Amino acid sequence: MGGRPRPHLQLIEPSADRGSGWSRLRLVDLPALTCRFRDIYVRHVEAGRSGSAAVSEQTEQRTEQQTGASPAWLTGHLTPVPDEIDAVGLEVTGTLPDELTGRYFRNGPNPLPGQDSGHWFTGHGMVHGVRLRDGRAEWYRNRWVRTRSFTDGAPFVADDLTIDRTAVLANTHVIPHAGKILALVEVGFPYELTPELETVGPCDFDGRLTSAMTAHPKQDPVTGELLFFGYGFMPPYLTYHRLSADGRLVESREIEVPGPTMMHDFAITENHVIWLDLPLVFDLELVNGGMPYRWDDAYGARIGVMPRDQHTGTQAGTVRWFDVDPCYVFHVGNAHEDAQGRVVLDAARYRPEEFTAFWPTIGGPGQETAAAAGPAQAAASTGNARVHRWTLDPASGKVSEETLDDRGVEFPTHDDARTGRPHRFLYTAADDAIVKYDLRDGSSEALELGPELTPGEAVFVPAQGARAEDEGWLLSIVSDLAATRSELLVLDASDLSRTASVRLPRRVPAGFHGSWIPDA
Ligand SMILES: [Fe+2]
Repeated sequence: MGGRPRPHLQLIEPSADRGSGWSRLRLVDLPALTCRFRDIYVRHVEAGRSGSAAVSEQTEQRTEQQTGASPAWLTGHLTPVPDEIDAVGLEVTGTLPDELTGRYFRNGPNPLPGQDSGHWFTGHGMVHGVRLRDGRAEWYRNRWVRTRSFTDGAPFVADDLTIDRTAVLANTHVIPHAGKILALVEVGFPYELTPELETVGPCDFDGRLTSAMTAHPKQDPVTGELLFFGYGFMPPYLTYHRLSADGRLVESREIEVPGPTMMHDFAITENHVIWLDLPLVFDLELVNGGMPYRWDDAYGARIGVMPRDQHTGTQAGTVRWFDVDPCYVFHVGNAHEDAQGRVVLDAARYRPEEFTAFWPTIGGPGQETAAAAGPAQAAASTGNARVHRWTLDPASGKVSEETLDDRGVEFPTHDDARTGRPHRFLYTAADDAIVKYDLRDGSSEALELGPELTPGEAVFVPAQGARAEDEGWLLSIVSDLAATRSELLVLDASDLSRTASVRLPRRVPAGFHGSWIPDA
């Protein structure tokens, strides 16, 4: 670890500004670079303001016209929608189960009309919601998340070089916890939404949250706690947090890592937290591009196992690191402890050559070269991660790993009642299929949708009183590559047969993550 480069930034002032609702950090050192940082964000804000003023005047047609020369993240099934709508009495094919009574919310980036944020990941968050009740699809609506970035054009890095964690995009996930619905993005604070998708405001858990919050927290199915982390490009690079089942932030502790990396997800087991310290590193020189993270062979790749001390009493922050073959992981499937006390981690893993080919196509460094290949190739290159298993043995200090299938997939999901516990099934989205893995016998099955359709993340909803792990449904928004239509597909998770389809009143851009929020 000692030989690894460290960034030339220094944190000097944790926030005392809790009363205003967000924490502030101050950048010092290397004034030229920080001034450059500020200038970049000022330009971003100006672009956002002009887009905000124009939004109500835009039309779908104009957006479609713009896409002719647009980058991949503004094209085809990723094409943003220009406005917010409400629709009631949605058309249903098949039969919606009565017990699917609740809301399916899904988040994703949706730049304002006329905006190009420069990276697929950096459009304003828009949540699409479908209300199901008693066998009917009552409504659809979509809303941008009213962050301070959206409403005021507030800069993430302000003129006085402070960071505003409410000036974010809130575009990655939407989850329920302790009676609140939270829209998440990994660089800032969550934003609370109402069940009707209106924005309540940022949430810093009564001023206790002093880092960003990942978009991939993990709820322990036994304790009801929400475990999460925040990472940043300034120290502390990684901070672990724990929310109680009733939504109080009851634990925060710094985790030592060699440098700032993009840590998109993590895992938990019954007794451990699992960290992914992988070689997608922050690079200040790239901050004027779409995303200031690049692959760095020199960083290495490690998985960390940290005891959850409420169970073990182990000293806080102690992590045992295992070197692994270089890779990148956006998304964990699940993890558990086996009978030998080993930690088993399943995730969607990118090989280095696959990740470095994929990253520029969505706006990362090298995008000019990738763009020359055309948006169709870029869009087709997504979803090349493979389901992979690492087995970490604390007794021997050894790690073994194997790729479980060669099919390219992403967005692994599972029965949330088994988070951190042994599980048999993973559900994933391929470019043109929903793929179910049986990790017990190594088999897989797929619902092939055809080359014109692409599915989003498939969220598992257990049936009431389910006895089998896959007794329930999968919910996924399926869109066509031509960006003309979308449906909410409801599958029987046991065999991937179609239970019902809700015709959505508009196309929904392919996005990121969502949740089923059942009525209480
Ligand atoms: Fe994600």
